[in-house]
Amino acid sequence: MAAECRRSGLGTKLTVAAENALAVRGVREVELETAIDNAAGIAFWTSRGYRTVGTIPRYYLNRVDALCMTKFLPAPYGQLQNPSRGNCPWREDSTGDGCNFLPNVA
Ligand SMILES: CC(C)(COP(=O)(O)OP(=O)(O)OC[C@H]1O[C@@H](n2cnc3c(N)ncnc32)[C@H](O)[C@@H]1OP(=O)(O)O)[C@@H](O)C(=O)NCCC(=O)NCCS
Repeated sequence: MAAECRRSGLGTKLTVAAENALAVRGVREVELETAIDNAAGIAFWTSRGYRTVGTIPRYYLNRVDALCMTKFLPAPYGQLQNPSRGNCPWREDSTGDGCNFLPNVA
């Protein structure tokens, strides 16, 4: 987002549109990374309901750690929930993608 456009709600609008587009296609979880020193990014994703689930050491420039953040997307009205996931969407195992998940961090 261009600096002069920040804090005007554009990031929220773009993210809501992306989340909705994913949800109607059956995506139920979004994962992202943000640098641990990116206070604005962390605040933004937290405001959007993303929660920190782990870290990736030296993810950026082999120097700065990343936070792994996730959000579960509700099924749009009229779509069935994934029966294999039930009512407990939190994953208990690592995907093996290098992210050290902390299952007790909400
Ligand atoms: C992160 C970014 C996309 C947010 O976009 P934005 O359009 O400014 O965000 P919004 O205006 O929709 O903000 C929504 C909420 O996020 C939080 N937020 C956003 N920027 C924030 C900041 N600098 N400090 C604290 N909270 C912030 C606030 O809760 C805000 O709500 P509020 O303005 O009512 O207080 C934008 O700052 C950006 O492009 N930054 C540079 C690139 C970057 O860091 N991207 C993220 C990489 S992971």
